[in-house]
Amino acid sequence: MSKLNKWDDLRMETIINSAKHEIKKAAQSLMDGHLVAFPTETVYGLGADATNEKAVSRIYAVKGRPTDHPLIVHISSISQLDKWAIDVPEYAIKLAKNFWPGPLTLILNRNTIAKNFITGGQDKVGLRVPNQMTALLLLQEFEKLGGLGVAAPSANKFGAVSPTCAEAVIDELGGVMDSKDLILDGGNCRIGIESTIVDCTQEHPRILRPGWVTKNMIEESCDKKVSSRLETKQIRVPGQLEKHYTPKAKIQLGFPNEVNVGFIALSNFKTPDSVIRLASPNDSHSYASELYAAFRSGDAQGLSKIFVIPPEGEGIAVAIRDRLIRCV
Ligand code: TXA
Ligand code: MG
Repeated sequence: MSKLNKWDDLRMETIINSAKHEIKKAAQSLMDGHLVAFPTETVYGLGADATNEKAVSRIYAVKGRPTDHPLIVHISSISQLDKWAIDVPEYAIKLAKNFWPGPLTLILNRNTIAKNFITGGQDKVGLRVPNQMTALLLLQEFEKLGGLGVAAPSANKFGAVSPTCAEAVIDELGGVMDSKDLILDGGNCRIGIESTIVDCTQEHPRILRPGWVTKNMIEESCDKKVSSRLETKQIRVPGQLEKHYTPKAKIQLGFPNEVNVGFIALSNFKTPDSVIRLASPNDSHSYASELYAAFRSGDAQGLSKIFVIPPEGEGIAVAIRDRLIRCV
């Protein structure tokens, strides 16, 4: 039986829509130690009870991810922050107040419940409150059952492209998830690329991974100067410098100079003859939300190469260029 047939059969039980009773069922599944993939405003996450070592170890197994790569703990609100973090600086509280729920992950000094199996052995923990209704309801229901937080990396195989819809989660992980694991379907992710990660363990915030929340937004919001990850390498952030976010097709930056290749660029770039246009977004925000689906479409069409013209400028364009540099 092919992978897809198997998942078509299981689909009714495995992919569940976001009705309240189904979200409750998913929260119970998390409590029982199963995995639940769920939508966020950035990308889909593969969730497990962040205090359950066995459940968390399945995340690593299913993703094929090295165990020293830390996981972001998702919580339902800022009121849960102190359970996971200690010595939280004033500027981090400001960031949390201004951007949570939202696409911002704060790296903080860990409290005792953040064990090594979550932090990759570091004394810091990554925390985020996602801004997506299904995700928030799931986290709230999970906390009602006594849960403290949901560890969730992007729901893709290690190094591959993050999923931005439930079907993409099946493509990535369908063959390796258990029949008791669940995928919550919340449609397409609004933002489409992963959260901004900010190290808040020093006097000044530092951007470890750019995203929708930009350097300017951070500086304005917390009244502190930030330095970006590209300017400093002081913190160990596993996975950041490796080849990452890659589709199967080879990615080449620039205008196509071959035929029968894929092409992604803003809509003002014309498509050359005999080139397959995979996305033509009108602006950087649409670019972010369409990019990973365009990569997947290229792979589904069996393209061996995709040419990509990165968007110029500031804002989310910085994050898009960051991801594109990592896949070439
Ligand atoms: O938008 C997102 O952040 C998505 C959604 C699901 O929330 N999650 C996500 O997780 O992108 P992941 O695991 O694919 O990427 C998280 C990055 C990894 O590079 C990891 O090394 C870093 O965050 N990270 C997590 N906890 C950390 C910690 N305690 N210290 C340093 N880096 C950390
Ligand atoms: Mg990831």
